[in-house]
Amino acid sequence: MNDITALATDNIGVALGDSVLTITLQRPDKLNAVTPDMSATLERIAAAANHDREVRVVILTGAGERAFCAGSDIGTLDGYSTPWEFRNRMDYCDALHRLRKPIIAAINGYALGGGLETSLICDIRLASETAKFAAPEVKLGWIGGGGMSAFLCAAAGPSNAAVMTMTGDMIDAETALRWGIVSEVLAPDALLPRARELAAVIASRPPIAVETAKANIRAAYNMPQDQALAYERDLQTITFATEDAAEGRSAFGERRAGTFVGR
Ligand code: COA
Repeated sequence: MNDITALATDNIGVALGDSVLTITLQRPDKLNAVTPDMSATLERIAAAANHDREVRVVILTGAGERAFCAGSDIGTLDGYSTPWEFRNRMDYCDALHRLRKPIIAAINGYALGGGLETSLICDIRLASETAKFAAPEVKLGWIGGGGMSAFLCAAAGPSNAAVMTMTGDMIDAETALRWGIVSEVLAPDALLPRARELAAVIASRPPIAVETAKANIRAAYNMPQDQALAYERDLQTITFATEDAAEGRSAFGERRAGTFVGR
């Protein structure tokens, strides 16, 4: 057994095969709502995945037919003794945001609150036709804190983000597709196969270039444009200097498939 799969718990499934790590939120009777213990597990898995050369791509999905993730387990939110402790809690969104490796969300049902944020943290989002999306915190009297506004604005634009964060109402998968929240909508039984297909393609690419593409996309959203352009040139130069890039150029010249090792 690979070390990283030993991090699995009753509520978090971890499987590694063909360089693809699949993390499954598995608490289906509670719509995969995330407890602090589950957050701690996800933090450990994300840290391990960053350092595990066997992991080239991550897929995140939910167990059962109803939910990807219904957000934080609301019952546990009163367990913090002070607002400061709440503010600095171990958080699953932060944990997954620290992943350097590409992550694909296979959204198989409800993606609500922190579940929506979790999907938005993923680099690529695929949805089942049955998926539903909402930022319902406003109905309860608070707002999301795992990147809701920043990520929703980036994906769907400020107007659509405002509709979602101010009404808290659900949108369906087709609307999410139209708004740019997801890349593809698939039949429920086609969702994971498509996620695996995409993951296999990405896993076959030179890993340093893939990880750098992720860092570059983030920089494009986070930095002033002049800095983002300069940073992109730096990142390009770093990737160009790798052994994998030299192999890519040789393979192209020799009309063969490249073998990429992550150096
Ligand atoms: N935290 C804790 N438990 C949750 C949960 C959450 N975020 N979301 C769902 N559950 C639990 C329900 O309490 C219920 O548990 P029970 O069977 O022990 O009573 C179980 O999951 C099934 O949910 P239920 O509400 O009975 O299903 P439904 O079909 O009637 O409604 C939703 C589905 C998604 C509309 C409803 O569960 C809901 O609004 N959930 C809260 C979503 C939310 O606000 N998320 C943001 C949290 S910050």
